[in-house]
Amino acid sequence: MPFVRAAAVSDIASGKGKQVSVGGKNVAIFNINGTFCAIDNDCPHRGAPLAEGDCEGNTVVCPWHGATFDLTTGAHLSPPAPRGVKAYPVQIVGDEVHIEI
Ligand code: FES
Repeated sequence: MPFVRAAAVSDIASGKGKQVSVGGKNVAIFNINGTFCAIDNDCPHRGAPLAEGDCEGNTVVCPWHGATFDLTTGAHLSPPAPRGVKAYPVQIVGDEVHIEI
């Protein structure tokens, strides 16, 4: 699959996430101290926007009920979410964040 532009590097502050729509999917892109990660935005528990969750190191906390996910793999680390989410490969191209979708 091709890498496609998802955001500008400057759109996403360090320690924050941003929801984007790429290829018909809702994706959450996070900036972890200058390293960018991309996972599906919708929490598999009740559909909360993970881009709005708080980041703690390499994890994000679901803003609704507190499930945690690994930002680099999408793996779920604690309930109530029943499973993880998909993680997407990320490339930085100039000042743009590209993801493979
Ligand atoms: S919607 Fe994410 S833990 Fe409930």
